[in-house]
Amino acid sequence: MAKRNKIALIGAGNIGGELAAIAARKQLGDVVLFDIPSKADFAKGKALDLMQNSAITGDDASITGTSDWADVAGADVMIITAGVPRKPGQSRDDLVGINLPIIRNVAENAKKHCPDAFTIVISNPLDVMVWAFQQWTGFDRKRVVGMAGVLDSARLQHFLAAEVGVSAKDVRAMVLGGHGDDMVAARGYCTINGVPVSQLIASERLDALEARTRGGGGEIVKLMGTSAYYAPATAAMAMAEAYLLDQKRLLAGAAYLDGQYGYKDMYLGVPVVIGGSGIERIVEIELSDAEKVALAKSAESVRGVVDVAKRLSAQQA
Ligand code: APR
Repeated sequence: MAKRNKIALIGAGNIGGELAAIAARKQLGDVVLFDIPSKADFAKGKALDLMQNSAITGDDASITGTSDWADVAGADVMIITAGVPRKPGQSRDDLVGINLPIIRNVAENAKKHCPDAFTIVISNPLDVMVWAFQQWTGFDRKRVVGMAGVLDSARLQHFLAAEVGVSAKDVRAMVLGGHGDDMVAARGYCTINGVPVSQLIASERLDALEARTRGGGGEIVKLMGTSAYYAPATAAMAMAEAYLLDQKRLLAGAAYLDGQYGYKDMYLGVPVVIGGSGIERIVEIELSDAEKVALAKSAESVRGVVDVAKRLSAQQA
């Protein structure tokens, strides 16, 4: 009997709700919105609202809310937003002590209930949370990816499009490295329908737009009092769709590096190909000397937070 995919959303907050709405609209599968017991009714309420929304849009997927891992069992895709978002003035790294035990709890349950899921981690600090999740589950590294590069690239695409006065859909951008203040815009790969952006935008303006991209999440936190959720959800769902439909898309994603770009035993944002086997390839592109230096700085920041996470998890164990 034909069967719909099962998409488990771990965390039914702002991003979780938007993820569910997109999954339903795109008919990617049945959705289970999972949250902690004290938020079970909240998750159920969101699911009910979304099902009633589907009565208008005509989407058939089922959306349910739960705090019982048994309902998540057997998921094909799992997207993790469990944790707390930033408040104004906080960096993503400030969340490590709060979100690390949450990811540990999620990892223990995921291992038991969803051993075959393709997992996309969104919780921050992203590169460290996805690393910790993979370590604790022992899942195949090809099936554990972090969502940041698609979002950071989209932020830059928007700024580039607005600068030139063209549609953002004709703009491609590639933002690599850690999902933090040191992320790296690979300028040579940013184009407007194939035209290098350096032909259309002065270098000082590009510097400014890239700097705005690096602080792009913080800009929204300052305005809203919490972190972004529409673009993060759309970005993660593009990655889930690439897996479920075996699209073999080349996207920027946080992947486990085992020597690529000169880094080992860490997750970092790099170009990856996502298809039906998960991360099917890590693509090594040429970077300028300046970009290599910037990537090294970004990797060093990620390593610093990984070290904090290692210390914290030793204390918590
Ligand atoms: N298991 C499942 N869900 C959990 C757990 C847990 N152990 N702990 C917390 N949660 C839930 C919270 O109850 C909350 O409903 O995670 C949800 C997070 O939702 P929001 O607070 O609305 O946060 P959101 O904006 O969705 O961001 C989530 O993604 O981008 C990152 O920095 C952001 O780390 C944050 C995460």
